Amino acid sequence: MLFIEKRDTAYFRGNKMKIDHPKTGYFFEGLTETHIPEEILKSIHSFMKTENLYLAATREITTKLEILNDEFRYLKDRNPIQLIKTRIKTPKSILEKLQKLGCEVSAESARKNLNDIAGIRVICSYIEDIYLIANLLTSQNDIGLIRTRDYIKSPKPNGYRSLHLIVTVPVFLSDHTEIVKVEVQIRTIAMDFWASLEHELAYKLVEGKNDDLIEELKNCADVITDTENKMQKIYNIIHSKK
Ligand code: GTP
Ligand code: MG
Repeated sequence: MLFIEKRDTAYFRGNKMKIDHPKTGYFFEGLTETHIPEEILKSIHSFMKTENLYLAATREITTKLEILNDEFRYLKDRNPIQLIKTRIKTPKSILEKLQKLGCEVSAESARKNLNDIAGIRVICSYIEDIYLIANLLTSQNDIGLIRTRDYIKSPKPNGYRSLHLIVTVPVFLSDHTEIVKVEVQIRTIAMDFWASLEHELAYKLVEGKNDDLIEELKNCADVITDTENKMQKIYNIIHSKK
């Protein structure tokens, strides 16, 4: 039994201990003066182990992408990748998704049933860079490709475009190796601009009530697609002349 005395102090089996913020503190947010049974502690520990593993996996893939990007700068004097963002799903969001899917709620079930506990978003300069990076990453020996969804060749009806990969990467731990799934979303700056704003706006829009605004967002996606196709053509002309 763990007793959370205050924000940073707890008692485990009668022994006073410090809660290591921010490493573990968020699990106990708002739980001061609370007793937590041992089996719940075990699940929390299991979730934290999972979180650590997925964090390691995103670091492995980020390093691979950074190495490719640096090599391009050296060889071709340009960077195909503008920005890499990573995120690990919060325990709350993992729990909600498992419940939505009707799956058992445990760290093991999350690892088995969810593809997007670890997420990496790669923002590229040009459309062709997306496929270049995807091919270079997935052709590496230790990377496994589980699924590809190409929302650039087949955009979603609302106009959303991106290349989504579910890949696996080995994480070498002290006594064994874990194969970990990571969702990699690769898109251009223009696709990211649209998707980021749409993400903020879309949940406020109601189908049947805001159809004109939904249509307008789709039109914005079409204009952006047209513009970046033109930019790609300009890039190709300039570089084929060199
Ligand atoms: P999830 O259960 O949502 O993860 O779905 P899924 O496994 O079927 O994956 P999908 O290929 O649809 O991609 C899911 C992720 O892509 C989302 O979490 C978003 O980050 C992004 N995404 C998908 N559709 C849209 C969209 O219409 N708008 C925006 N802004 N992002 C989207
Ligand atoms: Mg998702």
